[in-house]
Amino acid sequence: MKLVTLASPGGLDRLRLQEHDAPGEPGPGEIRVRIHASSLNFHDYGVVSGGMPTAEGRIPMSDGAGVVEAVGEDVDTFSVGDSVVSTFFPTWLTGPAEVGDFRTVPGDGVDGYAREAVIRPQTWFTHAPRGYSHAQAATLTTAGLTAWRALVVEGGLKAGDSVLVLGTGGVSIFALQFAKAMGATVIATSSSDDKLARLESLGADHTINYRTHPSGAPR
Ligand SMILES: NC(=O)c1ccc[n+]([C@@H]2O[C@H](COP(=O)([O-])OP(=O)(O)OC[C@H]3O[C@@H](n4cnc5c(N)ncnc54)[C@H](OP(=O)(O)O)[C@@H]3O)[C@@H](O)[C@H]2O)c1
Repeated sequence: MKLVTLASPGGLDRLRLQEHDAPGEPGPGEIRVRIHASSLNFHDYGVVSGGMPTAEGRIPMSDGAGVVEAVGEDVDTFSVGDSVVSTFFPTWLTGPAEVGDFRTVPGDGVDGYAREAVIRPQTWFTHAPRGYSHAQAATLTTAGLTAWRALVVEGGLKAGDSVLVLGTGGVSIFALQFAKAMGATVIATSSSDDKLARLESLGADHTINYRTHPSGAPR
């Protein structure tokens, strides 16, 4: 199977596409997932560009979505054929956050999902929402959960609040959509008028081009 590795120190020209043995059969409590999609977040760029140092030979990409193609003994959460998506903190399963760093994060502290297939404990994946494509599901792990946690869990967002979303990265686009769905007013910024028009089509109430209006006056 094909996979991508990153030399250390990192750099975009230090990525290598390689052939590797297939992962074999899953052991007890493990699943084998055929990866169909991964989403690119700022964190992934930080790792592969060398800005966030990682180990020699690291497989990048923090999220992977795909299909369960084999299950080991004692796997009770998934069946062959299920659509699944990986989690960003695979050892944080419930309750308050147990981890405050990237040591357990796929594509950073441990190998990630820039590969065709992977065997992992079943607890490292969750079911993809019904009706999502693999590409859509892959965006939930990093950007989607970050925006949800910031706005809803930490921010206690409620209808009538105003939300400022900065730029048009994955986190901001999720935040815009969550905020609109929850009845908030959204002010959105970008360096590009074309992107601002897109943000308006997604529901942004006020938009500001931070390049042409650095003082923050709306368009
Ligand atoms: N704590 C967490 O769990 C967590 C998780 C994920 C991400 N993050 C952080 O959240 C941030 C966004 O992540 P992302 O993945 O969405 O990033 P991204 O996709 O790289 O988005 C960056 C966007 O920010 C805008 N931007 C860049 N420079 C700017 C400036 N000087 N002033 C205003 N806006 C600027 C640009 O928007 P335009 O092109 O429209 O101008 C750019 O497209 C990153 O700092 C990331 O590290 C944190």
